[in-house]
Formats: sequence, structure tokens, C-alpha cells
Amino acid sequence: MFKNFICLEGIDGSGKSTQIASLESLLKSRGLEVLKIREPGGTEISEAVRQILLNPAHKGKMSDITELLLYNAARAQLLHEVIKPALEKGIAVLADRFAHSTLAYQGYGRGLNIDIIKNLLHVTCADFFPKTFILDIPVSLSRERQQKDKSRGKADRIEQEDNIFFERVRKGYQEIAKENPETCILLDATRPPEDIFKLLVSHLDG
Ligand code: TMP
Repeated sequence: MFKNFICLEGIDGSGKSTQIASLESLLKSRGLEVLKIREPGGTEISEAVRQILLNPAHKGKMSDITELLLYNAARAQLLHEVIKPALEKGIAVLADRFAHSTLAYQGYGRGLNIDIIKNLLHVTCADFFPKTFILDIPVSLSRERQQKDKSRGKADRIEQEDNIFFERVRKGYQEIAKENPETCILLDATRPPEDIFKLLVSHLDG
């Protein structure tokens, strides 16, 4: 795990962007150079893969294995082009999603074999795993927040999944946090953003 590599995870509407913005300000105030990334995306190739993955026209057509491999293809390229070089220069990397999204969505959500995914993630990421904060909210609240957010366009291919899928993803995140107490911290994201941020910083500095 890399100290300056920090990731926010959670289902949509869990408040990842708000926490990333606060974290960016904090790290900058501590004199660090900060790079923000989002997954899938962040390089020309990874953004092209993102378009394929999220395109609603591919709903019902894309196989779960194709989906798994494409998320990892996008990630491998992002690591190679952006994350590794940044960390090597001492730049702090703040990620909106990373490898645990694959475990939660493709593993627990789609029901693909967890051990196979873990092996694949090691192929993709080698030792580059971030300190991860999982923002936990009920699926009903996630939906409510998504509906209120007027800036959102049409739902993408993954967002079009039903609540049962997102319940499995949420449970998956909870399992991941239980299995990795040192590196994955589960935070109650129904709390006010300022409280969540205080907790997050205490874990980061602790
Ligand atoms: P977002 O940038 O709006 O969060 O969209 C990315 C979507 O892709 C989101 O629904 C979560 C999903 N996803 C996976 O299913 N597996 C992954 O490995 C990653 C990074 C994201």
C-alpha cells in the first residue's frame, strides 16, 4: 500500500466527490502536490474504454467477463501512464474508485468468482493498492440523492441496474472492509460530510 495513494469508494450518491474535494484542499495545505483521478478513465485509452463500459446501448449485450476485463484494462493503462509516475515523483494521488470497485461490482454485484478477481487485480495493480475509504449508504438514499442531482444526465449502463444489484454491491463493500481492516475503512456516509471528513482524516493521520 502507498501512503500517498488514497481512494474513495462507495455506490453512487455516497458523497465521494465532496470528500475528495476536502481531502485535496487538506493535502495541498500540507504542501503536497495532488493529482485527482477517476475510474474508469484518466488516460486517452482508459477514457475510450469508459465509453464502451458505460454506454447504455451495450446493456444486455456485454458479458460479465468482458466487463471485468475492460475495467481492468482501463485500470492497467491508468496505472502505467499516470498513477505510477505520479507516486514515484512524490505526488499524492486521490482516486474516485479503484480496484475495490471491481470486487464490489463485478464480484459481489455480478456474482463473478471473488478469488479469480483478486488474482486478476494483482495482475493489474501489482503492489499499487491505495488506502481506501468506503462511504456506506443505503441503496434507497443513493437513489434519492441521484434523483435530486440535476446535473446528472441519462443513467449509464451500470446505473440502470436494479436495486437488488446495488444491495449486493453495498454488502460487498461491507465484506471488503471487514476482510481488510488495515487498508479499507468503512464510514457511515449518512452522517454530515464534515463529520465524515473528520473521521477520514483521523484514520489517515492515525
Ligand atoms: P462513475 O464514474 O460515475 O462512478 O461511473 C463508473 C461506474 O462504473 C460506476 O457505476 C461503478 C462502475 N465500476 C465497476 O462496475 N467496476 C469498476 O471496477 C469500476 C472502477 C467502476
